[in-house]
Amino acid sequence: MNKKIVLSGSRPTGNIHLGNYFGALENWVRLQDEYDCHFFIADWHALTTGYDDTVQLRENTIGLMADFLSCGLDPDKSTLFLQSEVTVHAELFLLLGMNTPLSWLERCPTYKDMMANMGDKDIATYGFLGYPTLQAADILIYKADFVPVGEDQIPHLEITRELARRFNYIYGKEVFPEPQPLLTKSKVLPGTDGRKMSKSYNNTIALADSPDDVKKKVMNMITDPARIRKDDPGHPEICTVFAFHKVFNESSVPDIEQQCKGGCIGCVACKKLLQEKIECFHTPIYDRRQSLLSNKSHLIEIIHEGSAKARIKAEATMAEVREAVRIGV
Ligand code: TRP
Ligand code: SF4
Repeated sequence: MNKKIVLSGSRPTGNIHLGNYFGALENWVRLQDEYDCHFFIADWHALTTGYDDTVQLRENTIGLMADFLSCGLDPDKSTLFLQSEVTVHAELFLLLGMNTPLSWLERCPTYKDMMANMGDKDIATYGFLGYPTLQAADILIYKADFVPVGEDQIPHLEITRELARRFNYIYGKEVFPEPQPLLTKSKVLPGTDGRKMSKSYNNTIALADSPDDVKKKVMNMITDPARIRKDDPGHPEICTVFAFHKVFNESSVPDIEQQCKGGCIGCVACKKLLQEKIECFHTPIYDRRQSLLSNKSHLIEIIHEGSAKARIKAEATMAEVREAVRIGV
């Protein structure tokens, strides 16, 4: 009873990969027993940068729910929903927008960063600038206590806290608690080429990849270039395969390190060991995902049901908000 409220969201921008899994989802699954968890598909957020490219949006939305469920998010434990089906997020966004100082948005580091790095994409839009306010609405409308986020989202959460404080102050009512970040330790997995795992680098292993593709990707991973023959001493600390062993094959890490440095194991054998471990992890998730996707109307039903649950909570907060603002008669 009276569990603390957790909320987090993910954009439906394509298939969840192992980097996303270890960076976020694995933690979300674990949080489900301890907290009153809300996890949502942030389809409106996807529009803040992808407003002109929505061909895949519905498919990605359904695919993301399949990712959620196949990893162990459970609609009986948590509220799993779709942002656009809880339209009061937009009402709160509008009201918060009235008292969001422009300067808070303009100085947000992710805003400045993305404006500088989006290349030819035109994101000089009202929606993109206001994205932290939308995110604040997502969080505050459930009166979340904790938001599990990565380091990169900390500035957004800070704006959320400032907006909560400002709203409460302006209208003289403690409507919103200030949410705290939940910085859980997560395992760090590089991409198959050793850089950060990211769709834009084309170096991901996705939950949706077939077991065969995963195998190929693992067997093609880059190793220590100094190792040409098996008895060349290796440098595991610079090897991507070794970084993967640390996540998937923890108990063998000291062994592998020693054998690599001593030139006693070949890279192909080392990759094969890893490939088997990854397969044990990935294939069951992949199979669950496939079977969920074979019944899309069931997935859609889960989305509708979760969203209905979310709506009840969101609307209760919205009633308080309208009262505090004295909007309506
Ligand atoms: N901004 C997050 C992302 O890009 C998604 C998101 C939207 C979110 N609203 C949120 C995360 C609220 C945490 C809380 O991945
Ligand atoms: Fe990397 Fe393994 Fe080869 Fe060592 S033996 S370089 S850890 S793949």
